[in-house]
Amino acid sequence: MLESYSFINNELEALEAYLMEKFPQKGGILTEASQKTINAGGKRLRPILAILSGMFGEYSRDKIIPLAAALETLHSATLVHDDIIDNAETRRGQPSVSAKHGINLAVYAGDYMLVKAVMMLSEAGLPAEKLKEVAQALESMCVGEVEQYLGRNKVPTVREYLKRIMRKTGILLSASCSLGAFSAGCSEEQVKVLGRFGMYFGTAFQIRDDLLDIEPSEFDKDKIGKPVIRDLKEGVITLPVILAAYRNTSVRKQLESFFSGQGDVASLIPAIVAAGGPAESRRIKNRYINKCLGLLEGLPDTKQRRAMEEAVLWLGDSSFTATA
Ligand code: IPE
Ligand code: IPE
Ligand code: MG
Ligand code: MG
Repeated sequence: MLESYSFINNELEALEAYLMEKFPQKGGILTEASQKTINAGGKRLRPILAILSGMFGEYSRDKIIPLAAALETLHSATLVHDDIIDNAETRRGQPSVSAKHGINLAVYAGDYMLVKAVMMLSEAGLPAEKLKEVAQALESMCVGEVEQYLGRNKVPTVREYLKRIMRKTGILLSASCSLGAFSAGCSEEQVKVLGRFGMYFGTAFQIRDDLLDIEPSEFDKDKIGKPVIRDLKEGVITLPVILAAYRNTSVRKQLESFFSGQGDVASLIPAIVAAGGPAESRRIKNRYINKCLGLLEGLPDTKQRRAMEEAVLWLGDSSFTATA
């Protein structure tokens, strides 16, 4: 995504070295399972945002890298657990931990990674109130995930959906930005602006992910590295489906019969697309993209700001035009 920005690549190399040291190649089953998950790649979005945010202040690698690694490890732990809940057999282009080792070991591996993340945080030099923010972010993620789980096979309102994705995804991206900025001694105002930026970024990012599940393009399918057309099968009703159901009563009826065990996803997806669910979702996603760009305009015009702008535009699609 930001391959041409060499100043980020240097930091990402330091991040990988730190992660390698914390997750060695050899060890017991927990080490092996977590090491494979971490090293399978992933976009490293949370570390990238923490690093770029930190560059708005007095950037210190010694503080930011342990923080960025802790955020990536926390995120990876939630993915290991998420794949159990979502019955996902692949993750980051490899068998998920639950597919490879079974659910029980995947629960332990996810827990183990959470513990490793706490150890990394202890090296990031954050004060108690900021550690509390990390804990609160994780708490929100749990709440968002459970809300989604308990709401299976029910069409939420757009408002409920947005609140849910802000909890399950937005909050950790927000914390990545605000903690990165805090660690670098940015002003309270900048920490706040970057935190808000991360929340909007995360919201647009989850909408993008939900769109990819419904409409994976031939190009993306190979690169996604996880199952697609999965949300509906798991009863998770995302924005394109919600909007299609509100716009078209026949889609709503088709959905209801699908939930009661009749009909299949293969016929539902074209109806969702025809009802304009994905197109309208892209419009809503673009609103968040514009909010992100608007916030960045208030920050100093630096190379890290340009990299962030590029990351935001990556969330868009070819028809996207900024109107911030
Ligand atoms: C996956 O996150 C879960 C969502 C919030 C959509 P990422 O898409 O950031 O996953 P990796 O880290 O790149 O694998
Ligand atoms: C991932 O959510 C877990 C969290 C955001 C906490 P999803 O289930 O929506 O993401 P993918 O599509 O499996 O990566
Ligand atoms: Mg999930
Ligand atoms: Mg999932």
